Amino acid sequence: MRGETGPAHAPTVQGKMYHVMLGPGDIPPYVLLPGDPGRIDQITETWDEAREVAYHREYRSARGVYRGAEIAAVSTGIGGPSTAIAIEELARIGVHTMIRVGTTGAIQPSIKVGSLIIATAAVRYDGASHEYAPPEYPAAASPEVVLALVEAARRLGVDYHVGVVASTATFHLGQSRPGYRGYEWSESRRRIEDLRRMGVLSFEMEAATLFTLAGLYGLRAGCVCAVIANRATDEFTPGAGVREAIMVANEAIRILQEADRTGSARTHSISDLASAIHRLYSG
Ligand code: URA
Repeated sequence: MRGETGPAHAPTVQGKMYHVMLGPGDIPPYVLLPGDPGRIDQITETWDEAREVAYHREYRSARGVYRGAEIAAVSTGIGGPSTAIAIEELARIGVHTMIRVGTTGAIQPSIKVGSLIIATAAVRYDGASHEYAPPEYPAAASPEVVLALVEAARRLGVDYHVGVVASTATFHLGQSRPGYRGYEWSESRRRIEDLRRMGVLSFEMEAATLFTLAGLYGLRAGCVCAVIANRATDEFTPGAGVREAIMVANEAIRILQEADRTGSARTHSISDLASAIHRLYSG
């Protein structure tokens, strides 16, 4: 790498994006986005074929085939800043459909640890998205990705919830957890209660950045998270629901790819759309 020179405004190394170390054609355009590079193995184990393509910093990439669908997975690292870099670089190499597969901490008492949350939108406490658009710009998932995730969850018979999540820039104060030596301030103490009253389902750390950038760039994005914690009941089970979230995301990619191939994602009749929306809210 040392000694190579190029434009600083669009850094590449031997034709690869500087951070994710991927170039055009290295991965298919349908991509799962876990935060944790370690989760790439858990994802590829569920595919019929898989191989690692790159691993640089927190960005680990694999491509493969899931039940006939060409699919990839790229880890984003934790939080908005590293997620924004991943999306910028993936968009430049032709990725158009992204599903975050993550974990989340429920804030509503009725949401069980081990169930899934499919996000329709995200509250923008992520920090990073504010460098792209004013706070009034919505961080919304793509409707067809939400519908594909719901359809996948129903087919797989898993317990899921659909609604708004809150993406925070920090795991502790940003999610109303006390800091070191119990440090807190009025905003961090109040946030969880305010969001609960607003009907927000859970905390996580990447969806708002993904949805905002995807909205600005005309890309498709969605998010399915395993509920590994419940802040109202004070339960925490790392790993709960993660396999189910991965399977739902795989299946949603297959649904979207099939719809793209046959053109049905763009030619929904009113009744198709109405029944999809009915299914969405009767889950
Ligand atoms: N991820 C988060 O951001 N918060 C939680 O509580 C659990 C997972």
